[in-house]
Amino acid sequence: MAQLDEIIREEIRRAGPLTFARYMELALYHPTLGYYAGGGVGREPVGWTGDFFTSGDVSPLWGWAIARQLHQMWELMDRPARFDVVEPGAGRGLLAASVWRYAVALDADWAAALRYTLLDRAPAEAPLRVARQRRLAEELARIPAPVDGVRWLGSLAEVTGRRERAVSGCVVSNELVDALPVHVVEKRDGALAEIYVALAQDGERLVERLGALSLERVAGYLDRYKIPWRGYHDGWRAEVCLAAEDWMGEVAAALGRGFVLTIDYGDTARRLYTRDRRRGTLTGYARHQLSERPLADPGAQDITAHVNFTALARAGRAGGLRVAGLTTQAAMLTALGVREEAEALAARLFPHAESERHTDRGQAEYLRRAALRNAVATLLNPHGLGGFRALIQRRDVAGPGRALSGLARANEPGELLWRL
Ligand SMILES: C[S@@+](CC[C@H](N)C(=O)[O-])C[C@H]1O[C@@H](n2cnc3c(N)ncnc32)[C@H](O)[C@@H]1O
Repeated sequence: MAQLDEIIREEIRRAGPLTFARYMELALYHPTLGYYAGGGVGREPVGWTGDFFTSGDVSPLWGWAIARQLHQMWELMDRPARFDVVEPGAGRGLLAASVWRYAVALDADWAAALRYTLLDRAPAEAPLRVARQRRLAEELARIPAPVDGVRWLGSLAEVTGRRERAVSGCVVSNELVDALPVHVVEKRDGALAEIYVALAQDGERLVERLGALSLERVAGYLDRYKIPWRGYHDGWRAEVCLAAEDWMGEVAAALGRGFVLTIDYGDTARRLYTRDRRRGTLTGYARHQLSERPLADPGAQDITAHVNFTALARAGRAGGLRVAGLTTQAAMLTALGVREEAEALAARLFPHAESERHTDRGQAEYLRRAALRNAVATLLNPHGLGGFRALIQRRDVAGPGRALSGLARANEPGELLWRL
């Protein structure tokens, strides 16, 4: 079977240099060899044994907090008989398991209303997806969640059957948008040029090449978000994610009533595309190490870029969604009570942590309680996961955005709802 780098070389020989977005599309999403299809070997890329971890790996309390927010969204919608949770880029299904655990334990009415759909771009028969589905099914059976508690599909279009407004509930994603393909632009001689992926003289090695802007939409992007790039230095680079705008357009078309909760690293456009961020935010990840060589080993490393949340807000607005709020993950989880829940859990699970420090049992509980508290601190770390942004949009739900529990702290100093 051809290797992914050979397939990429072949496409360049045939069609000429690729935009970085096309390269990223192949590197991450080639149906059999792409990184998110298992890299041709069915390898799980996410988690402690993979290349990077996500909030759900740090503690199930993350999923508990998001579940609490989803539950309250259902209440704000007047507890409808059907509440869809659609999760694009659901990965291993950690959130789905947490949501079901919460619903089964705490509210039978919500559990009866819940319809959970996980979306994964990897083809249904890809070994990685098959393994993920099997593991989640085992986990759900332990809860126990209803046998038809979740379904896995490939795209929003499959969820809606291409009918507009078919989803009623919440479209929730974590670290999806940072994995969408980006174009890369660079300021050269006062104008913008685009980075392409070409072949080196040896006809083998993948190298960057500067060329003309590939699309009108790429050319106008920074101006659309009022980025004063003309005043920046030559050599300044930025990623342009048209796929994020398109994705949010699709989400807006799919959502009839309810919310969109998008969690990721990134910022508002003006805070993302600053003069000082000279080389953009494009990054590779392999085995928990950062890589600045996105052209190395296509299919074997993750490639990601920070998310322009202004673009998501605008694309949603164009599709009829209103912004309920933009906050940080730390502020959202804190407002949802993650600390209090951790302490309640610690008191339940480790009752001897204080009273029996002089025994082995007390020592062990003391250490496990410390690990639990550390996990919460990791989720809330403003320089790490806590600094992630959480955007909530809505359609056709009465009441102010701040009625959402997760946004209760969004207006506090340091947690301003930035102008989008
Ligand atoms: C970084 S991972 C997400 C990890 C996961 N949400 C978690 O918290 O562990 C990004 C995932 O998004 C998926 N993806 C990318 N584009 C997608 C799309 N348009 N629809 C659904 N899934 C998509 C990729 O296949 C990949 O599995």
